[in-house]
Amino acid sequence: MEKLMISGGRPLQGTVTISGAKNSAIALIPAAILAESEVILDNLPLLSDVAVYSEILEELGATVSWDGNSMRIDPSHIISLPMPNGPVKKLRASYYMMGALLGRFKETTIGLPGGCNFEPRPIDQHIKGFEALGATVTNEHGAIHLHAKELKGAKIYLDVVSVGATINIMLAATRAKGSTIIENAAKEPEIIDVATLLNSMGASIKGAGTETIRIEGKSELHGCRHSIIPDRIQAGTYMIAAAATRGNVLIDNVIPKHLEALTAKLIEMGVGIEELDESIRVIGKPSYEHVDVKALVYPGFATDLQSPMTSLLTQAQGVSVLSDFVYSNRFKHVPELIRMGAKIRVEGRSAIIEGHSLNAAKVKAADLRAGAALVIAGLTVEEGVTEVGGVEFIDRGYDNLVTNLRELGADVWRQTL
Ligand code: EPU
Repeated sequence: MEKLMISGGRPLQGTVTISGAKNSAIALIPAAILAESEVILDNLPLLSDVAVYSEILEELGATVSWDGNSMRIDPSHIISLPMPNGPVKKLRASYYMMGALLGRFKETTIGLPGGCNFEPRPIDQHIKGFEALGATVTNEHGAIHLHAKELKGAKIYLDVVSVGATINIMLAATRAKGSTIIENAAKEPEIIDVATLLNSMGASIKGAGTETIRIEGKSELHGCRHSIIPDRIQAGTYMIAAAATRGNVLIDNVIPKHLEALTAKLIEMGVGIEELDESIRVIGKPSYEHVDVKALVYPGFATDLQSPMTSLLTQAQGVSVLSDFVYSNRFKHVPELIRMGAKIRVEGRSAIIEGHSLNAAKVKAADLRAGAALVIAGLTVEEGVTEVGGVEFIDRGYDNLVTNLRELGADVWRQTL
């Protein structure tokens, strides 16, 4: 078992280069299944979730090879083997196998997804979309069986704005007959990234990034080469860490527009921000104002940055209120922060955070972003060593975290216990 050990109190200084987006990567890899020839994905983050996906594709008969951060996927020999168990269980985003395999083979059996379970995360909107396209969906002992004689385009209104459902329906609909319209679609940059890849494969998708997406189905898609967008959540996490440690960090290889909601909040707190074309400099200040934050769907403040932001708000003066309107109870980091001396109480969907310095403690991450929050908290602690358990969650979303933080001057290391 590994832990992250953090001897905090050092301002982060220097440059960090952001890798490709995890939440794009884990949708783009299954999307490659829809092609009949080789797809090359560049700028992939080297994460455990990406490795699991590569395992899943190989199990189905794809040829996968790596060259640095580029993954070459030859899906021409893939078959739709039932996957009720095995690697699909390790991954939340294995649900994208449903849309991709249904699109290409019109039939698949996939175990219900695993991953970070900070609260029940239903997939009813994905299922509603598949059914609208003509699939019969049954739950067979915890595995979802999807089958369609033929997929036919349809008009689908999502009752909940869902990233996963929007992408999954888009995947299946690219190989359906006729037009599909997804209304009330999610607008996250990762959705545009998936649509860009699919269009390069010969699909016809318009409106990705808006609430109405139109897809003209194609009988065949071909291979292509695609470079993944930078990870806005990883970038945001380093921005928050730079502010929390009162550092001065250039966050390089980012699309500043993707981070607007965070940047606005940091400026409101009094953090110095300089925005360049593809980078953002964060300049920490000795003291910060309290702010209220509402996590919403994009372009609102990202729920995935809500936990890291909680740690930063412990460093602000006065009382901040941070509410999450995407997930109702994503607060597993709060009891751990309280162990570190934070003054936080959770009321419904909100965390009420009173500014207070933190102390070293032994804490445990219960999910990926909770892990990031605890690392940031540890970096602010002036004395002693903070031990963060649950490293396997952090490894799902932050490649080279320890190396990057060390290059920024942090005293962080992994310890096997
Ligand atoms: N929801 C439903 N029914 C559905 C789908 C979603 O009720 O069929 C609800 C969820 O319970 C949630 C809300 O809708 O309350 C939004 O969920 P969404 O479907 O957008 O989330 P997701 O696609 O499962 C992705 C990211 C998450 C990120 C959310 C929101 C992946 C694999 N995961 O999840 O990332 O929090 O979008 O932006 O892309 C993370 O990276 O740490 C992470 C959890």
